[in-house]
This record gives sequence, C-alpha cells and structure tokens, in this order.
Amino acid sequence: MSKPRVGVLISGRGSNMMSLIEAAAAPDFPAEIGCVISNRPDAHGVVRAQAANIPTRIVDHKAYEDRSSFDAALDEALTEEQIDVVCLAGFMRLLTRALVMKWTGRMINIHPALLPSFKGLNTHERALAEGVKIHGCTVHFVTPEMDVGPILIQAAVPVLEDDTPGSLGARVLEQEHLVYPQALRMVCEGRARLENGRVVIDGFEMAPPPLVVPPLG
Ligand code: GAR
Repeated sequence: MSKPRVGVLISGRGSNMMSLIEAAAAPDFPAEIGCVISNRPDAHGVVRAQAANIPTRIVDHKAYEDRSSFDAALDEALTEEQIDVVCLAGFMRLLTRALVMKWTGRMINIHPALLPSFKGLNTHERALAEGVKIHGCTVHFVTPEMDVGPILIQAAVPVLEDDTPGSLGARVLEQEHLVYPQALRMVCEGRARLENGRVVIDGFEMAPPPLVVPPLG
C-alpha cells in the first residue's frame, strides 16, 4: 500500500520542513513528502527542498487578488500533487475558512509557543517580557482561527535567566524539530485523530520532553 503523501507549506528558511523531509527518509516512516509549496519565491527552504530532491512549487500570494483566489491556487497545487496531509511549517499566511474546512483533520501546524499562550508573532520576545519560566512549541490540527486548534503534541523548555529571544528561540526550535515529525507520524499512522474537536491518541509512546523549571536539586 502506498504511503500518504504530505505537502509541506513554507514561507522561509524551512528548518522544520527539513526535519520532516529527514524523518520521512527513514523506510519505516508512515508518509512520504510529496511536495513543498512556498508562497515566497525567494524562500531559502525552496533551495533546501530542491537539494533534497523534493518537488517544489511556488504559489506567490502577490500574484493573487485576494485570499480566496490564493487559497484556491494552493488547493489546486495540493490536489495536482495528490497530497493527503498538509503540514504548515513556518507558513506565514492566514488561510481562508473554506480551505481549512476542506482539510480538517488532515492539516497540521507548528507554533513556537505553548498554545494557547503566545499566539501570533514574536513569541520568544513576548515570553521573555512576561517572565514565564517554561516556554516551548505546539503541533496542532489547523482550524479557521489562527494558532488555535486541537493539540497533538507539545514540548517544553526552560527559560533561563540570561536568555535572549535568540537563545530561547534556538532552544525551542530544537524541540520543534523533534516533535513535528512525531506528530506527523501519529497522524499518518491513524493513531492521532480528530474526534468531536479533540485529539484522540491511541497508545503512542513518545520521548518525554525536557523539563522542568526551576531546575530541582
Ligand atoms: C518556526 O519556529 C515555526 O514554529 C514558526 O515559524 C518558524 C519557521 O522556521 N511558525 C509560526 O510562527 C506559525 N505561527 P522554519 O522555516 O525554520 O521552520
């Protein structure tokens, strides 16, 4: 039986995209990366995907008059590439309700914060400004509202006294690269499903996230 085909949507450097591509290269991974689509022609992730021999497409949002026509073009590209599951990986465009509803349960996103805290941009700056002691990342099913949606997996990291947005972001990014492939695996194996707006996970063992702050002992 052929594996589900994943479409990865990016806007930038594509480090999460690479973590998915690398994970999917393992023979036992339950999905293959069918294509990478960028809304920015100059996204560095496009070059990285090409170097990894993954088909790429550009759907430049600037070429479309509104969100609906852009989303229709995205959907057409996903359909042409016979994509089953969509991963948003640093894809910085809001999607229309129509597109999100069409892909319900088959579209996931990674966000650099422990949702529902710090939706939106500049999450590491805001976490530091709030003085939180634990920060992290979240993979969730996509729903029409931005950075909201049933949570598949989260990883937490400590916030250290001398952290800058850069150092904290790097600590979080390391976890993003671990949990996104895990979440995709769970979805593609059918072990994580959306049921009545909640995520149901069947006996899945995952690596424990690093914790806890303040360090004990
Ligand atoms: C990642 O940190 C991802 O979590 C974030 O953008 C970055 C993309 O980096 N996504 C969002 O903020 C979505 N709300 P990458 O291109 O190296 O994967």
